[in-house]
Amino acid sequence: MRTTVGIIGAGPAGLLLARLLHNAGIDSVVLESRDRSYVEHRQRAGILEQGTVDVLREAGAAERMDREGLRHDGIELRFDRQRHRVDFPGLTGGRSVTVYAQTEVCKDLIALQFKEGGPLLFEAEALAVEGAGSDRPRIRFRHEGREDVLECEYVVGCDGFWGVAREAFPESLSRVFERTYPYAWLGILADVAPSHDELVYARHDRGFALLSMRSPSVSRLYLQVPADTDAEDWTDEAIWDELERRLETDDDWRLARGPITQKSVTPMRSYVHEPMRHGRLFLAGDAAHIVPPTGAKGLNLAVGDVVTFARALLHERDTGSPELLDAYSATCLRRIWQAERFSYDMTSMLHPGPGDSPFDARLQLARLGRIASSRAAETDLAEAYTGFPLDA
Ligand code: APR
Ligand code: PHB
Repeated sequence: MRTTVGIIGAGPAGLLLARLLHNAGIDSVVLESRDRSYVEHRQRAGILEQGTVDVLREAGAAERMDREGLRHDGIELRFDRQRHRVDFPGLTGGRSVTVYAQTEVCKDLIALQFKEGGPLLFEAEALAVEGAGSDRPRIRFRHEGREDVLECEYVVGCDGFWGVAREAFPESLSRVFERTYPYAWLGILADVAPSHDELVYARHDRGFALLSMRSPSVSRLYLQVPADTDAEDWTDEAIWDELERRLETDDDWRLARGPITQKSVTPMRSYVHEPMRHGRLFLAGDAAHIVPPTGAKGLNLAVGDVVTFARALLHERDTGSPELLDAYSATCLRRIWQAERFSYDMTSMLHPGPGDSPFDARLQLARLGRIASSRAAETDLAEAYTGFPLDA
């Protein structure tokens, strides 16, 4: 088998890249180790930055998102039993975000790929990338019980944090920057209308809580829990009781309960692999970087990476100049480190850590109080939340 761009992984990064290349007349093959149903049903985040929405529209992949996505013009910060709303358009010159689940983005892109795109092979596991430093990189993979080789001009590793593409970087080239957190998120999906029309990020001495949603009738909520928590140790009633305590306010706001249809624990990690390119092998999305979910940046960073790669490849095709491909890693990393910083700031401001002192708790409240009382501090949050420009 032979193609121009070999893509490993059919998460949002790999699927969107295949779509962007198809639209530009460049062929690709996507190899995905899991089956279609698994990819279409795993629960992930659901906040699309304005720039991500624009990219999906330009790619012709936004028909259902435009119908079913919910435009959100702000978030609420909750602390000390008080509420503070951050108004995005007013602070950023009109920007907002859209609530539309990552699984839905993947379903839409898979359907388009099968309708009009190039090959997308499920249950095709990449085993290794070979010859990354040469003109003819190859992906060795296993599909339907047989080993095969995909010969490429470029390979893009969109294979997530646990993928194999990163392993093809020489040890002497790779640098890893990493931080783990002593807590995780217990997330639930519940068949109940969201108790607020915007997302609520709550800091409480008992831990962080987040109220989010998937649709006007489905709520998505999270609780900060110790890192080694087993979701099955939490009964539905205990989850609702704890959410209620942490989200409680002094006014008449109430949390509505409903049947919990899914629960799982998400670990928290910050991770960056530098550089993101070795020869003709490029990394994109979670394969190169992870952020803790508090800033809702994971999916949006993946989109930024593949847009940057697709533009760079087109630039080379149209002008013969590899300058943008050569700049790929540095271009992506500038934006990634801003998102790493923001995600870390949001996480450390809202989560009381197990070893924190009363001084630490007061500092978190002071940081929140600063956002609630200074337009400059609030603008900083709103700009970061709605998204840094792609070529910043
Ligand atoms: N061969 C083929 N496919 C693989 C391999 C392999 N060896 N290893 C992993 N994969 C697949 C996974 O099964 C997964 O479908 O690569 C895909 C990677 O997708 P994601 O993990 O969704 O990563 P990405 O596309 O970069 O999207 C980032 O996902 O984890 C969230 O919060 C994150 O929203 C962000 C987004
Ligand atoms: C979600 O809806 O899953 C979600 C929303 C905001 C976040 C993280 C997750 O910061």
